[in-house]
Amino acid sequence: MQKFIIQGRQTLKGEIRVAGDKNTALKLIPACVLIPGVTQLDNVPRIQDVKVIIELLKRIGAKIEESNDGHTLRIDTKKITTTKLPTDLVTKARASSMLVGPLLARFGSVELHHPGGDIIGERPLDLLLDGLKRLGASISQKDRVYQIKTKQLKGGRIVFRRVSVTGTENLLLAAVLAQGTTEIINAALEPSVTALAEFLKKRGARIEGIGSPVLKIIGVESLKIIEEPVTIIPDRIEAGTFACLAAANNAEITITACEPNHLEVFLKTLMDIGVKYQRTQNSLKILKRSGPLRATNIITHEYPGLATDHQAPLTVLLTQASGVSLVHETIYEARLFYTDKLKQMGAKVIMADPHRVIIEGPAALTGRKIISPDIRAGIALLIAGLIAEGTTTIGNVYQIDRGYEEIDKRLANLGAAIKRVETDYF
Ligand code: EPU
Repeated sequence: MQKFIIQGRQTLKGEIRVAGDKNTALKLIPACVLIPGVTQLDNVPRIQDVKVIIELLKRIGAKIEESNDGHTLRIDTKKITTTKLPTDLVTKARASSMLVGPLLARFGSVELHHPGGDIIGERPLDLLLDGLKRLGASISQKDRVYQIKTKQLKGGRIVFRRVSVTGTENLLLAAVLAQGTTEIINAALEPSVTALAEFLKKRGARIEGIGSPVLKIIGVESLKIIEEPVTIIPDRIEAGTFACLAAANNAEITITACEPNHLEVFLKTLMDIGVKYQRTQNSLKILKRSGPLRATNIITHEYPGLATDHQAPLTVLLTQASGVSLVHETIYEARLFYTDKLKQMGAKVIMADPHRVIIEGPAALTGRKIISPDIRAGIALLIAGLIAEGTTTIGNVYQIDRGYEEIDKRLANLGAAIKRVETDYF
């Protein structure tokens, strides 16, 4: 086990490069199962969740060559030896369910345990399973293990009662090789969905309505192998998180290799809070300010709204803003419980209900010993540690490593005093 020890209130400054998008890599790697040959992916983030998916693919027979820095993968899925997903890996990352669509489309069967991952809410799979049934799959379940089978997937009309990112992506992957036409209505619009659809289209899939809430997929017999590598898009969540870190520390930090176009509502929110920045097509510079931060009400929403994955870092920023802010988390029912740990650090937080907290600021934070509950709360607590007086220790850093590559080294480059320490206990 490892922990981070952070000495707060250092002067931060400089440049930080955004990694490839976790939530796109976690879809493009499984998508390679639909292409029985070699696909090269560049700008892959070297993070724990990606390592789990790579391991999962290897365990079912794929061959994967990784470059020394881990950012390039050559994935060969010509030979897949089983469609039964190993439970020890599936229970580590929810994104392992992304193999369901491709395995079912190519081999007609898949068996998996209900996937694990963050503890941020119930996280059911009903939308995916209902959608697969609409495409002609039969599903049985015993002791949280699903057996999904089909002779041949057939096009169907899928209406989501609510928007699901991985649900949309998984059904897209299942539908590209189905017989006939599939419609997904109320599809997710997140950049990872668009990146996946473009990836499939380039390989011969017939998809209409990319970037809109209605996707039409006309099934094809097979996808073609393309030599040209695919570059994973920049991680918009990481970019926004670094912006919150810079603003909370009142530091001038330039965030490079990012895509500000994917951050419009987030940037509008920063502006409302009083954060000054300059943007170019692929960078974002957070400027030092002389005035105070302003309290603001925020509400999470599906893309292009304010991402739930930005909620925790923004909440930490709001603890430093003057006045009363309301944070309304609409996507997950258990994604605000980490605010209890912010309270332990001195933040003035009142939980109105599991979806809403009221923050009164500014509050001086003090270093504490805390455990990181999930990826996004983990990085938010790390930001809190950077602005707190004294020492903060964050246990279970695996949760942070799941989503942020070598975060300690990258933040140390900005001037943060952060050490990674091996520990037997916390
Ligand atoms: N939901 C259902 N039934 C389903 C699926 C989802 O009720 O079958 C509910 C969920 O419980 C949740 C809401 O619908 O309340 C939205 O969930 P969604 O399916 O969109 O989430 P996801 O696809 O499992 C992805 C990201 C999450 C991100 C959400 C929302 C990946 C691998 N994960 O999850 O990322 O928060 O979309 O944008 O793409 C993270 O990166 O830290 C993370 C949790």
